[in-house]
Amino acid sequence: MHDGPVTDEDALSPLAEPEDRDVEATLRPKRLSEFVGQARVREQLELVLEGAMRRGAPPDHVLLSGPPGLGKTSLSMIIAAELGSAIRITSGPALERAGDLAAMLSNLVEGDVLFIDEIHRIARPAEEMLYLAMEDFRVDVVVGKGPGATSIPLDIAPFTLVGATTRSGVLTGPLRDRFGFTAHMEFYEPHELEQVLARSATILGVDLRPDGAVEIARRSRGTPRIANRLLRRVRDYAEVRANGAVTVDVARAALEVYDVDELGLDRLDRAVLNALVKSFGGGPVGISTLAVAVGEESTTVEEVCEPYLVRAGMLARTPRGRVATATAWAHLGLQAPSDAPGQAAPTLFDE
Ligand SMILES: Nc1ncnc2c1ncn2[C@@H]1O[C@H](COP(=O)(O)OP(=O)(O)O)[C@@H](O)[C@H]1O
Ligand SMILES: [Mg+2]
Repeated sequence: MHDGPVTDEDALSPLAEPEDRDVEATLRPKRLSEFVGQARVREQLELVLEGAMRRGAPPDHVLLSGPPGLGKTSLSMIIAAELGSAIRITSGPALERAGDLAAMLSNLVEGDVLFIDEIHRIARPAEEMLYLAMEDFRVDVVVGKGPGATSIPLDIAPFTLVGATTRSGVLTGPLRDRFGFTAHMEFYEPHELEQVLARSATILGVDLRPDGAVEIARRSRGTPRIANRLLRRVRDYAEVRANGAVTVDVARAALEVYDVDELGLDRLDRAVLNALVKSFGGGPVGISTLAVAVGEESTTVEEVCEPYLVRAGMLARTPRGRVATATAWAHLGLQAPSDAPGQAAPTLFDE
């Protein structure tokens, strides 16, 4: 749908590609102390977990919200590890029928962590069953059909639900209210990504030099998953075209080959900015119109692309639609109109 080499999307997508899965498992931080960045979330979570352990009861249900690749799945596993509990993993789309959820819930052992990924995509009947389960550790199982149907209450073991979502805004009120603690995951600062990279380089045995790490971190879209993926791409380059050491020059040359932009914007980000500026004069324009213009699902543009463009100071949300900021015009090498927002635009990751 958009131009540029295929490798671009592979290298920069914040979504997990099949080839990521195995290596992600080895790179996942296992304990809270290994989890880089997100200082607020980490501190809050530490208190929630420690408090619960002192009381000897399962902690409140936890909702993890934020864009893809920021560590939600990792954190759910860490929660179980810190509690010394087993984790059962499922996802919203897998819970199509309430019966699927009932089966999972009734198999839980006291203290288990139940992780539901993409919880905003859970089907309505399962969601309603979850209300009672979260609140009273009980489900009502309906037996039979029609007028003769009866509902049998079934106790389930006290457990902790950890839900992850890229769209907390579309969760229903009743579901959101049943989480005792919501963690909002933020994009990472470059210096935090440098730590992620240093850790991954050690695990993978990559000779990553500090200046090389700075360069990769800067272009990783604030996302650990992308940082780890770029590290692997740069390592390939370093081994094939250089002596294996990932220095700043090697990193730059490699990222050039993979068409990773100075700010780490990916092909979709650039396509959206281009459409916004060139086809719609900088906006305002609705997200669905923008999505059609770039040939993408509007949920992808909204959940994956927009949060980072807003974070990078390229895109502003207004009541009338999305607007390109002066920074966005400048990034595309164009002169911004005088009414473009953010003339004194924030630079990326300004504090
Ligand atoms: N805080 C972190 N510290 C170190 N590595 C991280 C961190 N967050 C994410 N990662 C890395 O990024 C990868 C993707 O994280 P993941 O938890 O799957 O993200 P999400 O579920 O939010 O999409 C993990 O395998 C891990 O290697
Ligand atoms: Mg995940």
